[in-house]
Amino acid sequence: MFKTWEELEESIKNCNRCKLWKTRRNIVFGTGNKNARLMFIGEGPGADEDRLGIPFVGRAGKLMDLAFETLGIDRSEVYIANIVKCRPPSNRNPENDEAMACLNYLRNQVILVKPEIIVLLGSVALKNILGKEYGITDSRGKWVEKKGIKYMPTWHPAALLRDETKKVDFIKDLKKVVELITSTKSENKDEKR
Ligand code: URA
Repeated sequence: MFKTWEELEESIKNCNRCKLWKTRRNIVFGTGNKNARLMFIGEGPGADEDRLGIPFVGRAGKLMDLAFETLGIDRSEVYIANIVKCRPPSNRNPENDEAMACLNYLRNQVILVKPEIIVLLGSVALKNILGKEYGITDSRGKWVEKKGIKYMPTWHPAALLRDETKKVDFIKDLKKVVELITSTKSENKDEKR
């Protein structure tokens, strides 16, 4: 594990730990406030993210931004990353070996950000972070606490594009997050800002 962002970012620059390096245009490392109380974890970059090197800037990201606006979440105040940092071809799900090869980077990001809350966007994030025994349909909207971090699983924003009815759940789940974060004072982050 690296103790600084500079070391971590340097270590990933020429990553070829899995086969996704062969087809990527950019490594999509992560974006946002490196001192955030709230972190979002998605699945992996799509075409727009691969092109720009920034997570959630495509259609799903725009929808997430709309939800953020509705709920008063400032994108620049949260930290956003993915399970895999290189685009899986044709937007397929990341394969197990790809997720395993990439997870240490994400773990290191979590250690450096020290978020109080992590929103898990969709099944891939849920299963890779909390375990294969978790299913998104049953788990979404329910807090899971592990090692001092509160996790809120919810639908992946791309699922909302396919099924509009999921939008209500998504907003409901994120509302719980906003309520918790606004009702609890930051214990150790304020003085760092
Ligand atoms: N979907 C994801 O899971 N992550 C992104 O960055 C974009 C789309």
